[in-house]
Formats: sequence, structure tokens, C-alpha cells
Amino acid sequence: MGLRIDKMLANMGYGTRKEVKKLLKSGVVKIDGVIVKDPKTQVNPSEQVVTVRGEEVEYKEFIYLMMNKPPGVISATEDIVEETVIDLLEEEDRAFAPFPVGRLDKDTEGLLLLTNDGQLAHQLLSPKKHVPKTYFAVIDGEVTEEDIASFRRGVVLDDGYETKPAELVILKSGLRSDVEVTITEGKFHQVKRMFRALGKRVVYLKRIQMGPLVLDPSLEVGEYRELTDEEVEMLKQFRP
Ligand code: URA
Repeated sequence: MGLRIDKMLANMGYGTRKEVKKLLKSGVVKIDGVIVKDPKTQVNPSEQVVTVRGEEVEYKEFIYLMMNKPPGVISATEDIVEETVIDLLEEEDRAFAPFPVGRLDKDTEGLLLLTNDGQLAHQLLSPKKHVPKTYFAVIDGEVTEEDIASFRRGVVLDDGYETKPAELVILKSGLRSDVEVTITEGKFHQVKRMFRALGKRVVYLKRIQMGPLVLDPSLEVGEYRELTDEEVEMLKQFRP
């Protein structure tokens, strides 16, 4: 598969198309050892070696990022007013035009996958696939065995929709309870609405797992990293 050298370098974070054009003009870019100056030059990154000032440019088409989403930012690619998860990325990662796979509410934290691999995103988001998503939640109120049974049966939300069975695990019960919830759908505000249906309120929500992908505990809130090759493979192979 070939592409224009200016597009390849722009994708890899060497600047805007205009900046890349200047770079090419200055004679520091080579394909297989030969200086190229024409931005329209076609290159096949899987077969040819591209260097900038002698340093090899490693080309990849797709990017896969795991973010520990902080509260206060929205899971969208752009917004006129609000800060988005894309705003938190380094320029070199943003150059790949990744988008969030699914949404977390503005005040929800935790695991968010960002990629430009539309096919994988589609697989993970398809309602037919029932990809399980696990959340840690703090609930204002005492969570009981009855609640576990209700979640297992499915809960009727405020709009009359009956959810699929969900798994509820009580980690700590009290006036404030710590729980883990696993759902296989992604209705708007689903976890919060499921608890509201039982007369309880979610005061803190953090996603910790999506399919086989587990939030890296070493990622501070607001930090992100690339997925390992193993994690990408695991996601691609995943069949719930
Ligand atoms: N359920 C919610 O209520 N909010 C989220 O962000 C994710 C799941």
C-alpha cells in the first residue's frame, strides 16, 4: 500500500503538511537512501526505508491508546466549549486522528480506549457483541443482596427499558457502599440509571475493564499509554 511522503510524515507527527513540505525541500528526507523533495512522491512504508536526518521513520497505520480518563473532560473528539479526551493527547498521537471507543460520562473516570482502527471499534461497540464492561462504583446508601438479585434479573430504567442481566458484587456495604458492576450494554448513563431504578445514587464511577482489556493500575488519572502488542491481539481475538 502506497501513500504520499508528505502524508506519511504528517501522520507520524513531523508537522503539518505545510511544515513537512519545508522539511522535504530542505533535503533531509530520504527514501531508500535517496533524497526526495517532492511532497507528492509515493512511498510504500512496509517495503521502503524512510529517514529524516538519518533517523528511520517507523510507520504504523493504527494507534491504540489506553487512557485513565479524568473527570471533567468529555469523551468526544471535539467540542467548542468543553475539554475533550483528545485535547489530553500529545501532538504526535493526535496526528493519527484517534477517537474514543464508546463514551464515559463527563464525571466518570477510568478505562477509555482510543484508536483510529474503525473496524476494531465497531466490533467492540456493536450491541450484538455484548462486550462486558466492569465499573467500580461508590453508592450513596446500603447495597443489598436484593439489589444483586435485581441486577441479575435486569432492571427497568426510567424510560421503561429493561436492561440485560448485570453482575453486581458488593465490596463494602454501609451507608456508602463500594461495588463492582458488570454490564454488557452501553445505554446512556446506564450504571447510574440502574442504581436510580433501585432508589440509590452513584456518587463515584470508574470503568476498570472492557472486554479483556484491564485498566493499567500504574496509569494516573489523566495519563495514557499505547496498548502492548499482546493487548491489541487480545482485543482483536476477543469473542464474548
Ligand atoms: N454508566 C454510566 O452511568 N456512566 C458512564 O460513564 C458509564 C456507564
